[in-house]
Amino acid sequence: MSEHELRVSKIRDGTVIDHVEGGQALNVLAILGIDGSEGFGVSVGMNVPSDRLGRKDIVKVEDRELSQSEVDVLSLIAPEATINIVRDFEVVEKNRVTRPDSVTGVLSCPNRNCITNADEPIETRFDVVADGVRCDYCATILRSDIAEHIDV
Ligand code: CTP
Ligand code: ZN
Repeated sequence: MSEHELRVSKIRDGTVIDHVEGGQALNVLAILGIDGSEGFGVSVGMNVPSDRLGRKDIVKVEDRELSQSEVDVLSLIAPEATINIVRDFEVVEKNRVTRPDSVTGVLSCPNRNCITNADEPIETRFDVVADGVRCDYCATILRSDIAEHIDV
């Protein structure tokens, strides 16, 4: 992209989550627990032209890095995402997200009868499968609705 096409300013320090599937940027913010009240700079580009994806979303969070569990959940809704760590305006680290084998304690099960929704001290656990994630306790599968069941 040439300089005059750059839509969202470069950042000095922080994390750029790039190549997010178009339409998922607000879900990315939800996963990171960001609603703007935290005080750090957040820039969001939606439906930005991309060679690789056609259209992509991009999220830039200043002065903040991501935890592995946040990256694990991100990978479920943005499997093509790149996480760029920026320090003093330079990209110092670039990683593609990878889908984990399972996620524990971050998604809620939509099945009301699932034991994880009973009044028991049980952490949710979902196995990552080809077409989504599957509850370890009741086998309910979440597909496109993963973002609506994030519990972090
Ligand atoms: N970026 C930023 N602020 C900086 C440096 C980079 O916001 N100080 C953003 C860029 O706008 C880009 C992403 O971080 O969206 C990755 O930067 P870079 O690796 O320089 O871009 P590309 O080579 O295009 O990345 P890729 O190969 O991953 O597509
Ligand atoms: Zn369940």
